Amino acid sequence: MSTETRSAELPSLAALHALNPLQQPTYADADELAKVVAQLQIMPPLVFAGECDALRHKMASVAAGEAFVLQGGDCAETFAGVTADNIQRKLRVLLSMAVLLTYAAQVPVVKLGRIAGQYAKPRSSDSETRDGVTLPAYRGDAVNGFAFTPEQRRHDPQRLLGVYNASAATLNLTRAFVTGGFAHLAKAHTWNADFVKQSPAGDRYQAMVDEIERALAFMEACGIEDENFRTVDFFSSHEALLLEYEHALTRIDSRTARPYGVSGHFLWIGERTRQLDGPHVELLRHVRNPLGVKLGPTTTPETALALADRLDPDHEPGRITFITRMGAGQIRDILPGVIEQVTASGRQVAWICDPMHGNTFSTANGYKTRAFDDVMDEVNGFFDVHEALGTWPGGVHVELTGDDVTECVGGADEIVEADLVNRYETACDPRLNRNQSLELAFLVAERLASGRIKRGAQLAEVTT
Ligand code: PEP
Ligand code: CO
Repeated sequence: MSTETRSAELPSLAALHALNPLQQPTYADADELAKVVAQLQIMPPLVFAGECDALRHKMASVAAGEAFVLQGGDCAETFAGVTADNIQRKLRVLLSMAVLLTYAAQVPVVKLGRIAGQYAKPRSSDSETRDGVTLPAYRGDAVNGFAFTPEQRRHDPQRLLGVYNASAATLNLTRAFVTGGFAHLAKAHTWNADFVKQSPAGDRYQAMVDEIERALAFMEACGIEDENFRTVDFFSSHEALLLEYEHALTRIDSRTARPYGVSGHFLWIGERTRQLDGPHVELLRHVRNPLGVKLGPTTTPETALALADRLDPDHEPGRITFITRMGAGQIRDILPGVIEQVTASGRQVAWICDPMHGNTFSTANGYKTRAFDDVMDEVNGFFDVHEALGTWPGGVHVELTGDDVTECVGGADEIVEADLVNRYETACDPRLNRNQSLELAFLVAERLASGRIKRGAQLAEVTT
């Protein structure tokens, strides 16, 4: 098959650099960079080809309307954030959310962390000026340091080895957590029950928590003991932004002789680097991982189709996920045309809603923030559009943390702009805190449950 030869011809790094790369670091010392790349090239894979294949199959179920995706984590992970407590809190909030979504959707929830590799950031400006001093912008711990000093802001190739090590440590602990009892269904349910008790919005969600409680008690009474209650499948994902890093961490799978990106299970191409003839599309079209592509408000149906054709010429189930981030004010106008034309082309892709990146604004007191209501408005717009078209709203993609930070305004705790100063800890974009994340999960769960009931009613009408 022609795919075999095409995929075996992985483009060289030099060929990628000839394609006008955007959003890349500028390293002063080419020899130092080459040494780092050579080291990365011999590192063991962080993820295995078989796992990427398994995830691609799960994403095919999402595209077919038989599973839902929860993708979430930091905007930018940091090296300092690689601690057991921090990783545990992030997993806890993701797994709590996943239980609610599974119960409401009554389909499997594919759990994807923005974790173990999310260290490089595209930026709207190359530099940052403070009090008359201009330095390179922070581009994520993969590239430079957050502190506003010339030493820290220098683009340092050694940091790529730091990304590998931090990702390995994070994945190692994550794998232990999700298989070692931490992810037990009953435990995740208890976390939600605790949230409902403490949150001002708790009453509204009590009924759902009670229902899950009854379902768990029923299964226990029946003596159902299943491995699936004790462990979960959890996958890593990040934006594949840095060409040196992603290229060096590509391996040919010995079973299939096909290339895989082994820096993470699911790799996505960002809104700023998804040019059809650009190096990111060129590199990722050759690897076998399931791929995401961000689609912002300027996306035309033709662009989406051209990206799908380029990245997935064989129409492989589960290969392509479109992560739409159009903004609450635009999603209802722009998304329908894109979905309609992609669907009319005969493609079955997974659609995921990122309600974060189209809804960022700056406050008068100088913080970059997002309003919980705007986030929910975009999520609701996403569900509305899919319901109207009869397509499957396949998942949500959120920036969140397990901590009680104050970075996004609104939510049941009614965080206001003046509160942002209290715990504004993100290295990049504002994240939903633990309570805002759980509240979002309850609201999405309500949409999923009502969608299920509506679809059931339509089916009954057709069959009677
Ligand atoms: C991100 O997901 O952190 C990001 C930069 O998103 P986008 O490419 O959609 O702007
Ligand atoms: Co972000």
